Amino acid sequence: MQLIDGKSLANKIQEGVAESVEALKREKNIVPGLAVILIGDDPASHAYVKMKAKACEKVGFYSITHHMPDTISQDEIIATIKMMNDNPRIDGILVQLPLPKHIDTDKILEVIDPKKDVDGFHPYNVGRLVTGLDGFVACTPLGVMKMFDAYDIDLEGKDVCVVGASNIVGKPMASLLLNANATVTITHIYTKDLKTHTLAADIVVVGVGVPGLIKADMVKEGAIVIDIGINRIEDGSLVGDVDFPEVSKKCSHITPVPGGVGPMTIAMLLENTLKSAKKRDA
Ligand code: GUN
Repeated sequence: MQLIDGKSLANKIQEGVAESVEALKREKNIVPGLAVILIGDDPASHAYVKMKAKACEKVGFYSITHHMPDTISQDEIIATIKMMNDNPRIDGILVQLPLPKHIDTDKILEVIDPKKDVDGFHPYNVGRLVTGLDGFVACTPLGVMKMFDAYDIDLEGKDVCVVGASNIVGKPMASLLLNANATVTITHIYTKDLKTHTLAADIVVVGVGVPGLIKADMVKEGAIVIDIGINRIEDGSLVGDVDFPEVSKKCSHITPVPGGVGPMTIAMLLENTLKSAKKRDA
């Protein structure tokens, strides 16, 4: 069994980004800028935003966080996004999800300038991904693809089961895998028999937020298992959606939680923001 070390891969990517930032500053006098919009007091969202801001600082980005109370109106959020769309120092805009219930998430995401949509959530970029065109791709699934690449995992013709069909993870993940010529099955909460699908797969990618959902009897011997879940359980520790101690005995490759996909998400956010900054004024 080989552990897919997302943490060290992400560190390597961050070093590369930092070098590119230096070059961009030197050659074009451009400092990549990321604006993060954080609404409300959800502790997990706060923790993620803090990690993102820290990573930006580490690679030499300019970053600002707009923290708003959860009583904020939709119009005020939209006005802030429009301000960031027009701000020439900002290359990427990220609205941390989930948003409070009175806010229409789809409407908010559509206000972001697709050229600054470093989360890849705007329908324009989602459409480009599905079509196989270049654009911004959601950070978590993009990070998973980088892991496959770094570990020489060939996807062509492989049976891949994606567990979870969210707009943030499952759907873009399935599109990327399909674009890489894998045979993709997407399962979700209405799937009749999850085990039939996971057991048949060469690769299982799971991101649903259910601790330990994927058990050893649900994956075939030698499978590759990617765990996107990050769940805080009662004892305060972080676990994924996979029963790691048991499943790891059966598979050829597996990602740990923490230290697997999580750090890759942040590394991809940095890469996407750098990509946008390189196109500034273009
Ligand atoms: N909430 C959970 N994952 C993400 C993500 O990748 N981006 C944003 N903006 N919010 C999230």
